[in-house]
Amino acid sequence: MGKPEPTQHPEDGVELLRSKLSEWFAHNGKDYPWRQTQDPWAILVSEIMLQQTTVSSVISNRRFERFLEEFPNLESIAKAAEPTILKAWEGLGYYNRVRNLQKTAQQILKEYGGQFPVDTQSLEALPGVGRYTAGAVSSFAFNQPSPIVDSNIARVISRLFDSHRPIDSSAGQKFLWQKATMLLDKHAPRLFNSAIMELGQTLCSPQTPHCHHCPIRSFCLSKQPELLPIKKPRKKTISIEEHAFFHQIGQKVLLAQGTDTRRKGFWHFPLRKESEYAHLKPIKVSRYSITHYRVTLYLYHQKPASLQEGEVYHPINQLSRLPIASPIRKLLEQML
Ligand code: ADE
Repeated sequence: MGKPEPTQHPEDGVELLRSKLSEWFAHNGKDYPWRQTQDPWAILVSEIMLQQTTVSSVISNRRFERFLEEFPNLESIAKAAEPTILKAWEGLGYYNRVRNLQKTAQQILKEYGGQFPVDTQSLEALPGVGRYTAGAVSSFAFNQPSPIVDSNIARVISRLFDSHRPIDSSAGQKFLWQKATMLLDKHAPRLFNSAIMELGQTLCSPQTPHCHHCPIRSFCLSKQPELLPIKKPRKKTISIEEHAFFHQIGQKVLLAQGTDTRRKGFWHFPLRKESEYAHLKPIKVSRYSITHYRVTLYLYHQKPASLQEGEVYHPINQLSRLPIASPIRKLLEQML
C-alpha cells in the first residue's frame, strides 16, 4: 500500500491540521512524568536529560524522578559540590550538561531572584540552553507560543512539506523553524508542541512511517517519506588508542583524575607513555565509544615507576561514590 495522496497544502489547511493533530494526541499522547508538571526546573531537567538519552531509558531507570529527588529545586543543585552532581548524572554521558544545569540554577537565583524567565530570549542566554530547549521550557512550562524543532519534529516537517533541504544545514534549519512557527497553535502551544513531537516519535518514524494511521496524512506532500529527512554527510569518528596501568595495593586501586576535555573531573586508569609500556603485554584490551571517539584501551597489570599529579590509590569499597565514566567503571568491576 503506497502513501496516501495529499488533498490539501499544510499551509492552506493549517487550522484543520492543528485540530486533527490535537485530537489524535488527546487519544494517543503518552503520560510521561515531565508532562505531569509545569515546574520550569523539572521541565528543563527533562529536556536536558532527553537530549542524550532515550525516553525509554529515562523512564525505565526512573532517571528523571531520581534526579529531581536529589535536586528538587534551583537552591539544592546551586550549592552542591561538583562530584555530587557528576555522580547524580552518572551513566547519562555528556557531563557538561549537568555542569550547565548547575550554572543555570545559580544564574537564575542570582539574576532573577529564583524566578525562571518566561521568554525564549532570556532562556537562551542561560548556559547550555539553545533554541530548542528555550522553546521547550517556554511552551511546556509556561504555555507560551514558542515553536520547537527537535529531530522528531524536523522529520515531520520535512515530510509534510516534502523538503529536501538538509536539516542540519543553515538553510534547512531556517526552513524548519519558519514552518514550526507557522504551524504552531498559538492558543494551545503546550499541547501542539507535545503532539507534533509525539507524532514524530511514533507514527512518523524514520524507516517505516505509518502513513495510513497518520492524523495529518491528507496534508503531507512527501512522495517517499521514508527517504526524508535529508542530512549532511556525517562527521567522521576518530579512533584513538590509550595505554593505562592497573595497580592495586591491598584494598586500594590506583586511579587518576581527568584534566582533558573528554575526561574532566572523572576518574580513570592512569595513562602512560610508550617508553613505560612498550615491553609489557596488556592483560585486557577494551573498546568503547565516547561521542565521536572510538577508544581502544590497553590495560597493563603494572605498578607505575612513579605517580603523576592527580593520581591516588582509592579504597575499593568507596568507588561507588566517585564519578567514573560507565565504560571505565565496567572495566574496573571486571578487574576487581
Ligand atoms: N524528548 C525530548 N523532550 C521530550 C518531551 N518533552 N516529551 C517527549 N519526548 C521528549
